Amino acid sequence: MNILVTGGAGFIGSNHVRMLIGKTDDRVVNLDLLTYAGNLENLTGIEDHPRYRFVKGDIRDADLVASLLAEESIDAVIHFAAESHVDRSLDAPGAFLDTNTRGTQVLLQCALKHELDCFVMVSTDEVYGSLDPHAPGFTEETPLAPNSPYAASKAAADLLCRAYHHTFGLDVRITRCSNNYGPYQFPEKLIPLMIANALEDRSLPVYGDGQQVRDWLHVSDHCRAIDLVLRQGRAGEVYNVGGRNEWANLDLVKRLLEILDKPESLIEFVKDRPGHDRRYAIVADKIRGELSWQPTFAFGDGLAQTVQWYLDNRNWWEKIRSGEYRAYYDSMYGDGGRYQGRS
Ligand code: NAD
Ligand code: TYD
Repeated sequence: MNILVTGGAGFIGSNHVRMLIGKTDDRVVNLDLLTYAGNLENLTGIEDHPRYRFVKGDIRDADLVASLLAEESIDAVIHFAAESHVDRSLDAPGAFLDTNTRGTQVLLQCALKHELDCFVMVSTDEVYGSLDPHAPGFTEETPLAPNSPYAASKAAADLLCRAYHHTFGLDVRITRCSNNYGPYQFPEKLIPLMIANALEDRSLPVYGDGQQVRDWLHVSDHCRAIDLVLRQGRAGEVYNVGGRNEWANLDLVKRLLEILDKPESLIEFVKDRPGHDRRYAIVADKIRGELSWQPTFAFGDGLAQTVQWYLDNRNWWEKIRSGEYRAYYDSMYGDGGRYQGRS
């Protein structure tokens, strides 16, 4: 198969490209704009592989997308490219609408014209909104109720995929996964941010009361789910992906400190994220039953492996944190920043 991966220089995309090159015979074309979150170092070691090509470009560029689909005889698109950080979407929502929603529509339109065999949309559980503490988890039938501009832009893209299938018959399959963790995650997201701060003996900013709950899944388990949906899933279907692994943020941060042998006194409670979703939890019975998917990583092992990866690859995240990311980090957490001071 010839596969176009969008956003393959980001966290999940790069893990997916590595899996495709390592474990399949597929040809992979990686289209990525290399925004602040895209990093070619995530793909070190495979850049010269004969079945791999990197193209720096924008999913919103219809001419570029159309020509790539044609010249590479693309059979399937796996669409990861997005603005992905909720906190950034609070400051600059426009970029999220433009990339996540309009960018997806451009890809769908090009896919339709090209008569693409299969389009896999990597959506998110955040499209469902927030759960009460004891409510049952999200199923594929849960109505969409996104709360942040990020989640709304992804929900709009997710629904455009549904519309292109329903109206035009395009083979679109949608995954909605819970929070991922693992190697190459950009250090603005909870787990890598906390690991990096702890290793530098800096404070660990926990939003609000730290009792928000997230359902964590190792990135390689998410990638296997996406691959199964591509090869064995059904057109027009939505598949929830999650590990039944709910953690309150504060408990998770304490667990990381324990693994790193750092004191809990590093924890600093800061002002809460506006509109902060209280709880996400995924019911993944459909993909478990229909595609025999199940997570392979026990959370304790996955977390230990991830911490070890950030210890072994200090150079990777130190470079990121010393660059442009610093200015962003300061604007969020520094003097006068959104999350400055205790709540
Ligand atoms: P990421 O921010 O690490 O990577 C996004 C990638 O997209 C970057 O390489 C960036 O350069 C690229 N990109 C951004 N705008 C682009 C554009 N206009 N054209 C081409 N490339 C562009 O994100 P991630 O965490 O790897 O998430 C990947 C996808 O998975 C996203 O669609 C996200 O919504 C979804 N998702 C993420 C999680 C999670 O926990 N991280 C969970 C469920 C779903
Ligand atoms: P994040 O990794 O941004 O993922 P998402 O918002 O998509 O779930 O955040 C995970 C949780 O951790 C979320 O409830 C917000 C919280 N959080 C903090 O408490 N402090 C932080 O510095 C960050 C980045 C997140």
